[in-house]
Amino acid sequence: MKRVDDFRLHLGKHELVPIMVGGMGVDISTAELSLEAARLGGIGHISDAMVPTVSDRRFNTKYVKNKQIQYKFNVNNSDKAIVKFDLGLLAEATALHVGRTMEAKRGEGLVFINCMEKLTMNAPRETLRVRLRTALDAGIDGITLAAGLHLGSLALIEDHPRFRDVKLGIIVSSLRALQLFLKKSARTGRLPDYVVIEGPLAGGHLGFGMDWAQYDLASIFVEIRDWMKTEQLDIPLIPAGGIFTGSDAAAFMEMGAAAVQVATRFTVSNECGLPKDVQQEYLKASDTDIVVNTISPTGYPMRMLKNSPAIGAGSRPNCEAFGYLLDSSGNCQYIDAYNREVACHPDAKKIRVMDKTCLCTHMRNFQLWTCGHYTYRLKDTTRRNEDGSYRLLSAEHIFRDYQFSTDNKIALPE
Ligand SMILES: Cc1cc2nc3c(=O)[nH]c(=O)nc-3n(C[C@H](O)[C@H](O)[C@H](O)COP(=O)(O)O)c2cc1C
Repeated sequence: MKRVDDFRLHLGKHELVPIMVGGMGVDISTAELSLEAARLGGIGHISDAMVPTVSDRRFNTKYVKNKQIQYKFNVNNSDKAIVKFDLGLLAEATALHVGRTMEAKRGEGLVFINCMEKLTMNAPRETLRVRLRTALDAGIDGITLAAGLHLGSLALIEDHPRFRDVKLGIIVSSLRALQLFLKKSARTGRLPDYVVIEGPLAGGHLGFGMDWAQYDLASIFVEIRDWMKTEQLDIPLIPAGGIFTGSDAAAFMEMGAAAVQVATRFTVSNECGLPKDVQQEYLKASDTDIVVNTISPTGYPMRMLKNSPAIGAGSRPNCEAFGYLLDSSGNCQYIDAYNREVACHPDAKKIRVMDKTCLCTHMRNFQLWTCGHYTYRLKDTTRRNEDGSYRLLSAEHIFRDYQFSTDNKIALPE
């Protein structure tokens, strides 16, 4: 049986190990993690989710505090339409995050940024344009368009000098979504350089409804692969979601995949941004501890650990400091859910909101433990310490395990 290392991903002039570590916001796929993937000859992702927050953490800037001060007068107002991002500051934070990461890059691999359309930021087009263009200015190798159909995204950057040279990809969960994207972006005269096909076992938000269990990655992959052949389109296809071993990956490569995108295995790496105690929660989880629910105010189902502190929390909407999910009219489903609970329990000191969560606050604080379906298998990828805790792994160990393993084996650390 073949192994992943028997294959290479060709993207323009680049020849890469066909392993892409997927974007994990908010700063779960850190710059360090993406840089390791690139150093090892593959592709890593940073994420453009809540970049001002990430910049504050990485570079000691004060974007969040200053925004909070600017809009403090609005904290008790349920109408958040006034809370806008300063586009200049957003560009500054993005330039720092992307620029510093690219300066640190070593090796033959590439660093991409995961850019989610769902982060509508109370001005969807304007903020997306700034995020995309600044990432290009700051030298990013590629942009993976995620969490949305991105029907207008290429048009936002088509006049950028790097539009033809940067690698551009899209994440889809169906043939239909891909067809729509290709049709809408045809006008720019540019095809994507790669297409990530994400199935229902992935972490983060799912591109499926609550009937996600009726779909499977291999079938969607084959449907898209065969359609592309009929249309004589030659775009590298990169399946994602539940590819847990090197053999899982090699099987997709033999079916015609150009590379694989993986993430869950790296959530227990030293380079991952999750706090150490949270990583132990991932390692301890069993299959019944993982749930797909609809508490994300984006409206998309999301997979997470059942004991995530974000579930049932009732924090006051924090849009003055964050506000990444405010739509073009300044609304977010969590604000409505929170106000409803406050109205129902006017005298309560602390309220609980069960059906939605303040995603910005809880992702920022690592209290929403989103994870892939196979998180319950992570315990089989490492050894235990004497105190019973699980040993974290180096990203290099995990990457090389995907690259070289055969026979469904998972290499344990020395
Ligand atoms: C903790 C975590 C966070 C994620 N966050 C994002 C994200 O911000 N944007 C995105 O497009 N995909 C996100 N994903 C999906 C991954 O990038 C990837 O496509 C998928 O999880 C691969 O499947 P696997 O985790 O089974 O390997 C996330 C996945 C995990 C595990």
